[in-house]
Amino acid sequence: MKLNIALLAGDGIGPEVIDQAVKVSDAVAKKFGHEINWTPALTGAAAIDAVGEPYPDETHEVCANADAVLFGAIGHPRFDNDPSAKVRPEQGLLKMRQKLGLFANVRPTFTFPSLIDKSPLKKERIEGTDLIILRELTGGVYFGERGRKDDGNTAFDTMTYQRYEIDRLARKGFEMALKRSKKLCCVDKANVLESSRLWRETVQNLEKEYPEVEVSYEFVDAVAMRLVQWPKAYDVIITANLFGDILTDEASVISGSMGLMPSSSVGSKVSLYEPIHGSYPQAAGKNIANPLATVLSAAMLFEDLNLADEAEAIRAVVNKSLAEGVVTEDLAEGGKSFGTSEVGDWLAANI
Ligand code: IPM
Ligand code: MN
Repeated sequence: MKLNIALLAGDGIGPEVIDQAVKVSDAVAKKFGHEINWTPALTGAAAIDAVGEPYPDETHEVCANADAVLFGAIGHPRFDNDPSAKVRPEQGLLKMRQKLGLFANVRPTFTFPSLIDKSPLKKERIEGTDLIILRELTGGVYFGERGRKDDGNTAFDTMTYQRYEIDRLARKGFEMALKRSKKLCCVDKANVLESSRLWRETVQNLEKEYPEVEVSYEFVDAVAMRLVQWPKAYDVIITANLFGDILTDEASVISGSMGLMPSSSVGSKVSLYEPIHGSYPQAAGKNIANPLATVLSAAMLFEDLNLADEAEAIRAVVNKSLAEGVVTEDLAEGGKSFGTSEVGDWLAANI
């Protein structure tokens, strides 16, 4: 099979971790007789520096015409403490999600047996955790009306949802639940927010279409608590953009390191695959970042292109590296650690 993949390395540790995912994917392609044509394109602060825009039209063309997009990270500290900056790297990410129609963000959380003691949570609580947070990605407060009034002394952001936006996300959740343990939890704040009440109404209407799925409804504050108390209570969670942003960071530490969790963003056209850890600027250029989340994102990419054996080969080699201690310093517990690129070389060689 010939695969055309857009490669958006982005900022911070993005380029380093992306390089490793490319090495591993090329090794998989070679083993299974595929050919990958990678097309690099600019995003984030790197794109602002080069062309003054965090998601240039040219990059959009590359993404829109690819079979999939592999993405590193976006963000640079020089923009973080400058509220007056007119152009910000994150705007590129939001524009990309919107223009590519990536309305559903799939963020799994699972544990690795060999890393179970790395988690800040007790082993008995987290062992066997396997959940997916399906976050709505192109609506809600991220894209609602915002602004200032009263001479700049009042600011507002609005959480707006249309029924079709909730419906299409929820359907993905139901479909996913059907393939797993048939449990779906709708997470909202329906005791306070009108938009959350529309979520409940929409999801309740869908229950009839998916009678095998057991649906529960929980408030986001309670879920924030239960996620660390008893994550095994959850299987598939569907939730709004901002709630999902917060809960997925929280859930990512269950596995022991934020450097491990992959994600995909899907819509009606091309899908995008990225680690959930972000640009981690303090580590940029030091060859210390953990590449596994990006490598596992590549596994999700193969899986979605119906290349399940290829995806499994990647997961297997990642497990092997963890079991054999071929890990970056975040997982080495003061013991022997390897550089980002050395881990990538080892993975590619062991595919
Ligand atoms: C994420 C990130 C982004 C978000 C930022 C960088 C805009 O935190 O992908 O979770 O809030 O969606
Ligand atoms: Mn986030």
